[in-house]
Amino acid sequence: MASRLRWEQTENGGMTERAKVAVLISGTGSNMAALLYASRLPDAPFEIVLVASNNPEAPGLKLAEAEGIRTFAHPHKGLKRAEFDALIDEQIRSAAADYVALAGYMRLLSAEFVGRWTERMLNIHPSLLPKYKGLEPHRRALEAGDAHAGCSVHLVTPEVDDGPVLGQVEVAVLPGDTAETLAARVLIAEHQLYPRVLAQFVSRHQDAGWIEQHVDRLASGLPEVRRKTSHGSPGWSVGSEKGAKLFAILADRHHGEEAVGLLVKASGADEMTGLIEAQPDIYYWPEYYGASGWLGLKLNRPDVDWDQVNEWLERSWRACAPARLTRLIRASDEF
Ligand code: GAR
Repeated sequence: MASRLRWEQTENGGMTERAKVAVLISGTGSNMAALLYASRLPDAPFEIVLVASNNPEAPGLKLAEAEGIRTFAHPHKGLKRAEFDALIDEQIRSAAADYVALAGYMRLLSAEFVGRWTERMLNIHPSLLPKYKGLEPHRRALEAGDAHAGCSVHLVTPEVDDGPVLGQVEVAVLPGDTAETLAARVLIAEHQLYPRVLAQFVSRHQDAGWIEQHVDRLASGLPEVRRKTSHGSPGWSVGSEKGAKLFAILADRHHGEEAVGLLVKASGADEMTGLIEAQPDIYYWPEYYGASGWLGLKLNRPDVDWDQVNEWLERSWRACAPARLTRLIRASDEF
């Protein structure tokens, strides 16, 4: 999905991007409030652009309105699940949200809606997942005699409370706890956890470690590829151990550059200058490496086209692979 992140001037003159987040609630909305106030701290990497609810009486809506946030509420009664979700989806899109945060949204979601927000929708659940998915997690933790309850933020997948966990906080169970007293303490932990995890998640494209994992997954899928460090930077080479040739390097903000860049082999200086002039937000001329035919692709951007990155890796691989490997590939291309 194309990103619509907005760039804003910070107090110190730098530019910061803010991801737009729609929050869905059904009730009190205290997690929504935690996200909202976190978004108002200096340097917060996200802003709340919509609070929507399936319950027009949800108290959280009033708070959002008072804080100047756009709201939308529609009762789900009488509508098929997918129909209702389509209404919400329309609102989220018209608010130009990049992400959806479920915060006490007590409605099962249709597969269509979940599919439209894959890897872009988070949920908070008051248990240490995978324990106690679904209803009454606090009571179940107490009945099980757990020493700790807690909360989890996870990515939303079609199964309820089942997606990859992005962060958790444990909360000690106290003697004499009831489901209510425990829930109240877990809620405090929720308010700390959700803004932190959301901030990390929407900023992950700036994280060199996350970018490296992504590149590694693509580069390692090519034949005879091995990891090789180049002057301390992660690199990927092709060929037998002795004659292995580097075809990709990850340059993490080298020489004062802003980019976490993937360096790949272009055909020469003409192609490089052409690309850099036409798309300076994607391509750059890396210090030192540029002179030896390495083209820089900026990867610490929110809207990286990973298919394009993959194509560059393949091309660079072909340019560096020994003839015995490229012959095989050429032969298979012809069929
Ligand atoms: C929170 O405890 C949240 O984790 C939980 O509902 C509560 C909502 O409170 N969500 C779930 O149980 C989802 N499976 P809030 O409206 O004050 O944020």
